[in-house]
Amino acid sequence: MPVSLVILAAGLGSRMNSERPKVLHPLGGAPLLAHAMRAGAMLAPERVVVVTGHGAEAVAKAARAEDPDVRIAHQVEQKGTAHAVAQARGALDGFQGDAVVLYGDTPFVRPETLEAMLDARARHAIVVLGFEAADPGRYGRLVMDGDTLERIVEFKDATDAERAVTLCNSGVLCADAVSLFELVDRVDSENAAGEFYLTDIVAIARQKGLSVGVVRCTEAETLGINTRAELAAAEEAFQRRMRAEALDNGVTLIAPDTIHFALDTVIGRDAVVGPNVVFGPGVTIESEALIRAFCHLEGCHVSRGAQVGPFARLRPGAELAEDVHVGNFVEIKNAILDEGAKVNHLSYIGDADVGEKSNIGAGTITCNYDGVFKHRTVIGKRAFIGSDTMLVAPVTVGDDAMTGSGSVITRDVPAGALALERATQDIKPGLAIRLMDRLKALKAKKNGV
Ligand code: UD1
Ligand code: MG
Repeated sequence: MPVSLVILAAGLGSRMNSERPKVLHPLGGAPLLAHAMRAGAMLAPERVVVVTGHGAEAVAKAARAEDPDVRIAHQVEQKGTAHAVAQARGALDGFQGDAVVLYGDTPFVRPETLEAMLDARARHAIVVLGFEAADPGRYGRLVMDGDTLERIVEFKDATDAERAVTLCNSGVLCADAVSLFELVDRVDSENAAGEFYLTDIVAIARQKGLSVGVVRCTEAETLGINTRAELAAAEEAFQRRMRAEALDNGVTLIAPDTIHFALDTVIGRDAVVGPNVVFGPGVTIESEALIRAFCHLEGCHVSRGAQVGPFARLRPGAELAEDVHVGNFVEIKNAILDEGAKVNHLSYIGDADVGEKSNIGAGTITCNYDGVFKHRTVIGKRAFIGSDTMLVAPVTVGDDAMTGSGSVITRDVPAGALALERATQDIKPGLAIRLMDRLKALKAKKNGV
């Protein structure tokens, strides 16, 4: 049975106290919305619809970054969750199959749970994801009759007896798409909030004699983010899960609690990560690579056997081939380092190609920016760049070439050549001692000795 997703993301999230739409707040370096989309993507959906409202343009952009084929349905006014689902009708026109409704602010729903819901659809017209809440608070309550869900009552509309129910609505549900839109059409807004509640489709379905079932998950899985404090708690939970997964996958984390992952971090087996390392979005570390303490990596690829850090920064577009060494206080951006290249100390390598086995001396800088444009530095194979070389791009250093320490290289260096750019050294015999004696005498005079 084909599946489509409807992800509700129109709400403002006023309790975040933010200019930014709630679903764009980051968790593990990715917007909350991306987490929900990724969980749903595991179902291999035929269509994915994101319902936007507050900050619609930015939300649509983030949705497209996660899935270029996403369909955007705009909800001009936020009149409730049923009204939000109704906006997806056009995007699902002609679609035959199940629709799974997810919330953009609920990042931890597991793909396995969604699978279980789809399985339960064999027995029920609608399947709702429920959970036992430690503190049910303002959640919608699931009113059961045996194994059948009779209705969902929103907290605001519930009687004391209904409020005592601890089985709550996560918001995730699944139904045949055509039936879902039919049911949603029959929802009214006669309730305490004056909203069109998606939850009302349950009672409407029961009146039509349709069966409604519940799949249960843990409360942690349905955790919704409403406040900054909840976002911080979610980040902690996310990091804990990522650390455990990395350890399970055969990665050595020397001090797991100090390592921070992004949603898409990939680390190969037998890689070793030292303490206090931060992985921003888009990092792949291959097997047997070593990331030493206090590194910050983002948008980069570190190949097998490469060594990075301590205190190194890899920025987007940093591509390290096998056995590359990048040492302390080195920054690499948009640069390809071929096999066995070494940049061990205090360097900036940006917009560059560094050939295999080349050695970049301490303090070398690729001067890539003229204030307006960025330019590329190309260094060949087995080149030796002397310490404190300024490579003023665009510039090329050929295979097996050398640059003298302290040189400012503004012209291309042919293969095999040595480029030197500095003043000739003068030697004044004895002058150091004479100068020092004079200075000492001056000081003594000043002090009245
Ligand atoms: C909803 C459920 C409640 C459930 C709870 C779980 C309803 C009526 N209630 O309540 O049973 O226990 O979630 O967290 O569904 N949204 C839109 N457009 C709208 C309204 C909401 O896109 O017009 C989106 C929001 O951005 C959010 C989601 O739908 O992602 C849920 O909306 P929210 O207002 O948080 O619903 P709750 O009151 O929490
Ligand atoms: Mg909510």
